[in-house]
Amino acid sequence: MCGIVGYIGNQNSVPILIEGLKRLEYRGYDSAGVASINLGKSDLIKVKGKVSALEEKVKHEQLQGNIGIGHTRWATHGAPNETNAHPHFNSDKTLYLIHNGIIENYSVLKTALISKGYNFNSETDSEVLVHLIDSFIKKGNDLFNSVRYSLNEVEGAYGICVIYSDEPDKIIVAKKGSPLVIGIGDGENYIASDVNALIAYTSQIVYLEDDEIAVVYKDKFQARSISDEEIVKEVHEVKIALEEISKGGYQHYMLKEIMEQPESVRNSMRGRLLYEDGISKLGGLEGFDNRIAYSRRIVISACGTSWHAGLVGEYMLEQYAGIPVEVDYASEFRYRNPVIQPDDTMIFISQSGETADTLAAMKEAKRKGALVLGVCNVVGSSIARESTAGVYIHAGPEIGVASTKAFTSQLVVLSLITLLAARKRNLSLIDGKKIIEEIDSLPDKIARILKINDQIEHIAEKFVDAKNFLYLGRGYNFPVALEGALKLKEISYIHAEGYPAAEMKHGPIALIDENMPTVVIAPKDSVYDKVLSNIEEVKARKGKVIAIANEDDDQIDKLVDHVIKVPQTIRMLMPILTVIPLQLLAYHIAVKKGLNVDQPRNLAKSVTVE
Ligand code: M6R
Repeated sequence: MCGIVGYIGNQNSVPILIEGLKRLEYRGYDSAGVASINLGKSDLIKVKGKVSALEEKVKHEQLQGNIGIGHTRWATHGAPNETNAHPHFNSDKTLYLIHNGIIENYSVLKTALISKGYNFNSETDSEVLVHLIDSFIKKGNDLFNSVRYSLNEVEGAYGICVIYSDEPDKIIVAKKGSPLVIGIGDGENYIASDVNALIAYTSQIVYLEDDEIAVVYKDKFQARSISDEEIVKEVHEVKIALEEISKGGYQHYMLKEIMEQPESVRNSMRGRLLYEDGISKLGGLEGFDNRIAYSRRIVISACGTSWHAGLVGEYMLEQYAGIPVEVDYASEFRYRNPVIQPDDTMIFISQSGETADTLAAMKEAKRKGALVLGVCNVVGSSIARESTAGVYIHAGPEIGVASTKAFTSQLVVLSLITLLAARKRNLSLIDGKKIIEEIDSLPDKIARILKINDQIEHIAEKFVDAKNFLYLGRGYNFPVALEGALKLKEISYIHAEGYPAAEMKHGPIALIDENMPTVVIAPKDSVYDKVLSNIEEVKARKGKVIAIANEDDDQIDKLVDHVIKVPQTIRMLMPILTVIPLQLLAYHIAVKKGLNVDQPRNLAKSVTVE
């Protein structure tokens, strides 16, 4: 959740840390801080609020040093304020630490440290670590071993960076459960919780694995295991252009990412459609095609928007491949005792590839012997590396906290997996070709929807003051209703619920009156007439209806208050089109309410804690 950066070299670390934190701010943005060592003397600046506030304070107080660490926080333990902001420090102010993750046994450790005379400034779990390390230093150990011994006492998840003014030539970093990368420069090295923070400086990246600890000097690094064995790390070349992580002239990342969808969806299918054979080609699944197609069962597990994508995947795989599918919240999967058999396939979907619950569920599925596939966006992420085989969605960096383009790309990839499995089983060549034609036509159809952005903005204007929203859809569009409601609530703070349209009469209908807008996803498909009946039921209770319908549907216009038209496609792919107006609707409502859509309150882009 939190963003961490570090620098060691010949330059002043502080502007580099601030720049890196700006690129990581989507991970957490309630408070921020930097610490650096200058000529053996360390200093620290922290603020409540955003990195821009930190930048101002740093300029004012002229902090500098060739070695430094910085942090942007998403609060878990303790309120978002300056005291709880990182870096945390020992009582001598010689040792500084930043942490991303949760120390689960912090309260036991804290009690023991207090009994030894340690005083705590903050309410955080992280501060325990800095005092614990200090206690080992005070026993005569060097920094590296003090960190290592401390981590052996810790339960939970961490990505940490530690600096110490008595050993000012190094940063100690370690990882367990939270991401951490080292960027290799020329006579200087960088550290971050996310490659995005480093691409302005280097493309040479080392991914630290769980239970690894490294000493980073300005001209080299040494990695070891927590149990002190030497580890040889590979340096990866990461190809992300700086423009890909900038706003590119848009007011918000979210809008840019919505508008990018013709291109991102194209990238998800590029080189993967074999028209002549009516099948998809997914390099990352090579050698596993038959195993997947003849799985006894497929279980899809994910969180949030990725879980919604999984629900659509269930409809796809069951309809076309005829394989039984279950979809599970990763957070529930990991704490049940799920029945997994060796001939089950599990698909884990994650944009970031770092979601703690999804990663833990994946490890559990592996232990139980399932074939474990990853569907991720971030190349080299933990979930991608942990999976046995998998497919990248290639949507490009998604910075806005509300997931948009990753969702449509996840759906494209799920449709490709479905096509692969279905063609291996019963789907005919002709039907396979038809699906490919429809997948191939998606980018143009999305571009058509984006052209009516102004119309959607106009509709949004009328609902800025709504307190509640209901989203209804059936079949493939039920998960889209859930996703539309999630988009609205996370960025506009309007309470919204998604329901299968037919479920409305079992409860939610009691809520409907003239103040309760209902968004109904009503493409012309086999359940269209039934959805029209649901609309009538809402209208009969004076509810306002916004419908998402097909371009050739004139019948619906007179039934509803507002209608947004999208092109037609086959049922399986319809969610890729119907979700786009819902993304735009949520976006415009939030902007008109004056909210920060890219950094909504209480949220973070990458949920690396439980
Ligand atoms: O990176 P992941 O796809 O694993 O993230 C899962 C959820 O945290 C994420 O989809 C979240 O719900 C988004 N804020 C939705 O917009």
